[in-house]
Amino acid sequence: MKVLILGADGYLGWPTCMYFSQRNHEVIGVDNYFRRQAGMELDCESLIPTPNLNRRAKIWQELTGKKIDIQIGDVTHYPFLLSLMRQYTPDVVIHYAEQPSAPYSMIDHEKAVFTVQNNLISTLNIAYAIKAVNLDCHLIKIGTMGEYGTPDIDIEEGWLEIEHKGRKDRFLFPRQASSLYHTTKIQDTDLLWFYVRTWGLRVTDLMQGPVYGIKTEESELDENLLTIFNYDEVFGTVLNRFIVQAIAGYPLTVFGKGEQIRGFINIKDTMQCVYLAAANPAASGELRIFNQVTETFSINQLADKVKNTGLTLGYNVEIAHIENPRVEKEKHYYNPTYTGLLEIGLEPHYLTEEVLIDLFNIVSNYQNAINVDTIFRGVKWN
Ligand SMILES: NC(=O)c1ccc[n+]([C@@H]2O[C@H](COP(=O)([O-])OP(=O)(O)OC[C@H]3O[C@@H](n4cnc5c(N)ncnc54)[C@H](O)[C@@H]3O)[C@@H](O)[C@H]2O)c1
Repeated sequence: MKVLILGADGYLGWPTCMYFSQRNHEVIGVDNYFRRQAGMELDCESLIPTPNLNRRAKIWQELTGKKIDIQIGDVTHYPFLLSLMRQYTPDVVIHYAEQPSAPYSMIDHEKAVFTVQNNLISTLNIAYAIKAVNLDCHLIKIGTMGEYGTPDIDIEEGWLEIEHKGRKDRFLFPRQASSLYHTTKIQDTDLLWFYVRTWGLRVTDLMQGPVYGIKTEESELDENLLTIFNYDEVFGTVLNRFIVQAIAGYPLTVFGKGEQIRGFINIKDTMQCVYLAAANPAASGELRIFNQVTETFSINQLADKVKNTGLTLGYNVEIAHIENPRVEKEKHYYNPTYTGLLEIGLEPHYLTEEVLIDLFNIVSNYQNAINVDTIFRGVKWN
């Protein structure tokens, strides 16, 4: 496959580039370094220093003999994207190139506008560029489980059959997010569903839960191939944050009661899922949706796991319940279905004690670089 990976410098993008390249696919990685710049602006850069994309691609090539093409530019700039599509005519486009943080989208009006423009225009441009160059190209878009919110009914895999006044039809499962960022992901889905119906695009939407972890098989080759790793409130995902907090002796910041339940996934499984989706493409005119999580936990359960592993390893770990800066249900029903990816071959890596110890060990190598001031800044939802 010829694979265009948009958002290639990011937490998921760079490991995905290596994952496909390792399996002998032709990879083109694209990024505009938004995430690096936002990290500098907000003083919350990656704990692990990462060379820029061109340098990482060079290191990868020296170690494996495999080439990853790098293109630096903005996907919201349509002429740039269109020229890439014409130059490479990819079989698959993997769309990670979005502003991915709920707190970032809630900081102020300027960041809200940026999130809406960046996420919706990038998605719109990709739909147009695929139509202009090759309607058969498979688009894999990374959505989020947060789009569904926390409804009081079971969450199905993307679709819901509804019987109303004696008639039946199939609709997108109702979506009701609890941040502006998540709302843009709903709007992305709607945009793509419209173009699937209208132009016959071929789309897979992967509704992913918060990802944790650092290493993938490919990054074992060299420390410089590790992905970015954030532990701050804006860009860090919850388990990654808790591990760093435990090592830094900073009480684990559980928002409110901590009974919020979410579905989680190991970064190694994100690689598998995206790869399986690419290898088993959606049909033309199909919007195929998978819920991309492997297990669910409450925030209290995650905090307890991190605390117990930390104590075993000799860290003094405390848990602090702080006033919830977000507007979200703290006690709710949560029962998502997530069998579709298992059916096409996903072999999950679950959150075991061994996985947690491994995470503690990697992060402890960078302990001196932890900036505790960036851990909590209290971005409020209202
Ligand atoms: N990490 C998670 O836990 C998680 C969970 C669910 C969904 N997702 C989704 O997965 C995708 C990737 O997430 P991530 O954690 O790797 O985020 P990330 O910020 O690390 O990666 C996104 C990359 O896209 C780039 N980018 C953003 N806008 C761009 C543009 N207009 N043009 C070119 N490049 C652009 C950024 O510079 C960044 O390198 C996002 O769409 C996110 O919403 C992530």
